Amino acid sequence: MNDVISTLTSHRSFRKYKEQQITEEQLNSILSSAQSAPTWIHGQQVSVIVIQDKERKAKLANFCGNQNHINEAPTFLVFCADFNRAKIASDIENVPFAACDDSDALLVGATDVGIALSNAIAASESLGLGTVPIGGIRKKPLDVIELLKLPKYVIPIAGLCVGYGLEDPGINPRLPKDSFIHKEEYDHDQKSYINIYDETFRQHHLNKSNGDRDVTWSHRISSFYKEKHYNNNYSEVPTMLKQQGFTCSDMK
Ligand SMILES: Cc1cc2nc3c(=O)[nH]c(=O)nc-3n(C[C@H](O)[C@H](O)[C@H](O)COP(=O)(O)O)c2cc1C
Repeated sequence: MNDVISTLTSHRSFRKYKEQQITEEQLNSILSSAQSAPTWIHGQQVSVIVIQDKERKAKLANFCGNQNHINEAPTFLVFCADFNRAKIASDIENVPFAACDDSDALLVGATDVGIALSNAIAASESLGLGTVPIGGIRKKPLDVIELLKLPKYVIPIAGLCVGYGLEDPGINPRLPKDSFIHKEEYDHDQKSYINIYDETFRQHHLNKSNGDRDVTWSHRISSFYKEKHYNNNYSEVPTMLKQQGFTCSDMK
């Protein structure tokens, strides 16, 4: 196993951080790694807003559902899907701009952001830093857009806490490999893999909590998905998309 694979397969998310700020050199390496990720048509539909100001982080922590690890992490990165530059290119060329009328633009933006985010995580971990991605950035997306002054065609997709991690949570066990790797065609035996994994997950959390947390993966995931907008925590997303110009009019 080489160093890159060893870093990737040792991943874990940190939710406690030292007060110590990361260096400019570390930050630049993380951001260069993120920017080096492949993007759809080389459109480079990603922007990263770097937040180190404590007050601003506190506001974002609140918008993200009072996630205190955002306050603790000295650096918070907000990864946005960004079609603003594509719109400017269309204006320069004096042609119409139709990308954000396509629902596929959401998949493009989310994919581009996901790959860049993943590069940032791997780069951070290779430098001995800890991270946790923050999807909670979409809980109050209108407030986030206002605070970060995001223009039309730019939407926040995920945050990333970066810092020196404390209280190593260890590796979170994954579903059985056979559920993830499908040979030649989809493996429909998922329920049996989930049954096995529910017990692995349960034991892992019982061990970690000295017997306090008795929960299966099925219970946790089904509770999260049981109501619209993930239990109404993400209900501003459709309004936010419309406001930012993502009409997805091909869906109608
Ligand atoms: C897109 C995305 C959004 C996430 N959002 C949050 C979040 O808002 N808050 C949080 O504490 N963890 C968040 N996480 C972290 C996941 O909970 C974590 O990756 C998962 O539990 C697996 O644990 P591990 O990363 O330690 O392996 C997010 C992860 C991803 C990929």
